[in-house]
Amino acid sequence: MDKQRMHGKVFLETERLTLVALTSEHISELNTLDSDPAVMHFITDGMPRPPGHNEKAVPGLERYACENPGLGLWPVYLTSSGEFMGWYILKHLLDTGEVEIGFRIKKKFWNQGFSTEAGLALIQHGFETVGLKRIIAIVRPDNLASQSVIKKIGLTYEDKRVIHGIHCLYFSCLKVGRRDD
Ligand SMILES: CC(C)(COP(=O)(O)OP(=O)(O)OC[C@H]1O[C@@H](n2cnc3c(N)ncnc32)[C@H](O)[C@@H]1OP(=O)(O)O)[C@@H](O)C(=O)NCCC(=O)NCCS
Repeated sequence: MDKQRMHGKVFLETERLTLVALTSEHISELNTLDSDPAVMHFITDGMPRPPGHNEKAVPGLERYACENPGLGLWPVYLTSSGEFMGWYILKHLLDTGEVEIGFRIKKKFWNQGFSTEAGLALIQHGFETVGLKRIIAIVRPDNLASQSVIKKIGLTYEDKRVIHGIHCLYFSCLKVGRRDD
């Protein structure tokens, strides 16, 4: 294990993954991730981000994590090699205030159960540690891989919505309440 290659303080570890606190040191890794049209296919129709996108976004995300303990965007590394994989997120939606779970990893890591593994850990973290009552996910109807993960981590289909002009499927998951919750 080469934790030297991982930037940032460890936030959460699963069997194979290490999620760390986001810092400006991750910007070049995020730019590389976003430069793959396959990764960005369902996000920007594969178009590259405008120059400086992550340079502008990261300071705001760092502030968000400070102001909302337990929430944020976390770069993820393969623990066994220290290799950067992508990111996972639990963050309020600007328009509704609900907390959304999301994921984006490099193509070489797809279909190995990594996002299901991280997603299950983040759902548990969101409900048990942060105290959320509900977590949602938004996905394009043609993004079948993402929908598969969303269902496997326990969210169920709610309805269709138009979000920022894009037709999306809306999924949600409620904390299973104890009597004293
Ligand atoms: C969506 C994404 C995060 C999934 O990550 P992952 O680590 O590959 O997910 P997992 O391996 O845990 O699960 C993937 C599931 O999708 C299924 N899948 C993959 N491609 C599929 C397709 N074209 N049609 C149907 N199912 C598909 C896999 O079979 C697997 O399900 P299974 O375990 O039941 O067989 C990854 O593909 C990604 O980063 N995509 C680009 C960014 C993106 O679209 N993010 C989501 C925006 S809402």
